[in-house]
Amino acid sequence: MLNIQKVTIKVNNKEILKDFSLKINDGETHVLMGPNGVGKSTICRSLLKDPNYQITSGSITYKDQDLLSLSTTEISRLGILMVSQSPIAIEGVSNAEMLRLALSERTKEHIDIFKFSKKAKEICQKLGIPENFLHRDINNGMSGGERKKNELLHIWMLEPSFLILDEIDSGLDVDALKVVSTSLKEYQEKTNCSILLVTHNPRIIEILKPDYIHIIKDQKISFTGDASLAKEIEQKGFKQFFATKAQESND
Ligand SMILES: Nc1ncnc2c1ncn2[C@@H]1O[C@H](COP(=O)(O)OP(=O)(O)OP(=O)(O)O)[C@@H](O)[C@H]1O
Ligand SMILES: [Mg+2]
Repeated sequence: MLNIQKVTIKVNNKEILKDFSLKINDGETHVLMGPNGVGKSTICRSLLKDPNYQITSGSITYKDQDLLSLSTTEISRLGILMVSQSPIAIEGVSNAEMLRLALSERTKEHIDIFKFSKKAKEICQKLGIPENFLHRDINNGMSGGERKKNELLHIWMLEPSFLILDEIDSGLDVDALKVVSTSLKEYQEKTNCSILLVTHNPRIIEILKPDYIHIIKDQKISFTGDASLAKEIEQKGFKQFFATKAQESND
């Protein structure tokens, strides 16, 4: 279980989130929404200890381990994996090299090259990714949509227990969005992983069927509901939604 308790996060000395709390149990899917620049990526990146973000107060635990005292590598070993909003390209390191190294780091076991190749090829086939992706440099020369599919390959190979997906739908065409969403749902059903998903896309929400939708306002989660909350936001937009809520609390 992930437990974020009253964290305050600063970037370049500017306070982005304050007293931000969120609990995610095993197997649950939570969607985080909010207008541009409210801090959705900030919380995602902070969970992996991105050095650009300073957590100045509060606590974050995962499976009773204090994440704030761990390094990014140690957090990754606990099974937390993030797909960032704009996955970076790493020239000179192939997908296969990185995945084999990451797997042996995590399991502390020798990775059998034949079993590894067989599994990787099966996943490529399932995702509709050419097998040569495995031997290409990580995300190098790949389109936005291809990068997201490549990240999905990483998920299936590394088998995380907690997934942080920051706008995984951006850059995907309609068909690719369906492949990615369906594959994520299948992965979750197989592993019972937890998912923190930043998205405003109704199609991915429809397929993943999240347990909760949260909306960030005033530096923290100010509204929580079920999937109908996402529909309301889609219809009204944030501005009108916030205005309606303010009116309701005045009445
Ligand atoms: N590395 C950084 N350096 C300076 N400012 C940053 C940095 N990262 C984030 N910020 C600022 O922090 C605020 C929150 O950014 P964040 O990326 O978390 O927003 P977001 O909710 O993910 O927005 P979007 O919907 O556009 O992805 C923004 O004002 C952004 O400019
Ligand atoms: Mg963002």
